[in-house]
Amino acid sequence: MSPSLLNRRSTPARSSTIRDLLDQARTPGMISFAGGIPDPDRFPLALLADLAAGVIRGQGNEALQYGATAGEAETKAALAGLYGPLPDGSCISSAELVVTSGAQQALDLTARVLLEPGDPVICATADYLGMLGVLNDHGAVPHPIPVDADGLDVERLEVELRGGLRPRACYLVPHHHNPTGATITPPRRAHLHRLSSRYGFVVIEDDPYRELTYDGSEPVEVAADPELTVRIRSTSKILSPGLRIGALAGPRWLTEAVTIQKQSADLHTSTLSQALVVAALGTGLLDEHVAGLRSSYQAKLDLLLGAIQDRFEDRIIVDRPGGGMFLWARFPGIDTSVWLSRAIDNGVCFVPGQAFAVGTDRSDQARLSFVTASPGDLVDGVDRLAQTAPVPTRLPRMLA
Ligand SMILES: Cc1ncc(COP(=O)(O)O)c(C=O)c1O
Repeated sequence: MSPSLLNRRSTPARSSTIRDLLDQARTPGMISFAGGIPDPDRFPLALLADLAAGVIRGQGNEALQYGATAGEAETKAALAGLYGPLPDGSCISSAELVVTSGAQQALDLTARVLLEPGDPVICATADYLGMLGVLNDHGAVPHPIPVDADGLDVERLEVELRGGLRPRACYLVPHHHNPTGATITPPRRAHLHRLSSRYGFVVIEDDPYRELTYDGSEPVEVAADPELTVRIRSTSKILSPGLRIGALAGPRWLTEAVTIQKQSADLHTSTLSQALVVAALGTGLLDEHVAGLRSSYQAKLDLLLGAIQDRFEDRIIVDRPGGGMFLWARFPGIDTSVWLSRAIDNGVCFVPGQAFAVGTDRSDQARLSFVTASPGDLVDGVDRLAQTAPVPTRLPRMLA
């Protein structure tokens, strides 16, 4: 078919770097720091196998049937439990919740009901590619705000709002941001929600890494306008991404519109996956499982940081993330996209920072996803990186 028949949405806003990369990551022997992929060795296989057999034998007639667009009542009740109490003591109710096919569908459906072409949407100067793709699909315009170790620079956003910026929405990954690893501080997050109320934009909180805070501390919730806040959760990083179970909670005006859009998108989320997730959450084993994930991921992060410090010394600048799956690293004077092709030839890959960039130069940065590789591969991967690292084109800023 002629590409000229494809519509505007089908023209990628970004190069296919990541797709090509992920293809490379699958070649035998490649050590990949590229994909944001949970550790497959930690999937609770035996538990899920037993539960799946039980679900199909016990509830197969319903679990293999079409289901309700917004999700089964049991799934909604189970997923509402992932939200915890809000600052005012209330809890998310099933009525406010839509079960989605992963957080990714929740983002797309939110965009479908909120955004018009040309609408500015606040995001970070390096942000989640899946959301940047959604914004592109809907013709929205990402409006970048700097992000540092304390999260989005909300003071800066306020200056721009005072200067006349009128966004439709603000996209926020509150915990262990993909790609920067940053967690927004509670005061900044509260400030953002006050700005949302004052200026009338929606805050889309996409929070798939909230359970992966390594010290096990509970996330701090902040006061938010319930009419202007969309909270998205996922079971991808705590159970299995292949099940594709996520949730969207928000004001009734939005969840009703989202449900109508979801009907045309996929009728409903897999009833079988829903039943499996309900069964898994119902075992009460999830807390223990997630605690295991946290300590394993933290140990891998320590290993990666140790190897990086040994091999790169002062040629790298990192902020240690407090959780999640990503290390965001700066290699002053090195163009990481150029480095990548040499690294791939040496059997290791990562995602260059520029792939995530929004209106800012991120070419000396890289996202290293450290949870998928085995401990041995993590160390070998850093060796392979060091063997191929280009000579910096200028003195590192910290030494200059
Ligand atoms: C920030 C962020 N949001 C959403 C998603 C998609 O999650 P899900 O598998 O629930 O669709 C990801 C996956 O990597 C992510 O990093």
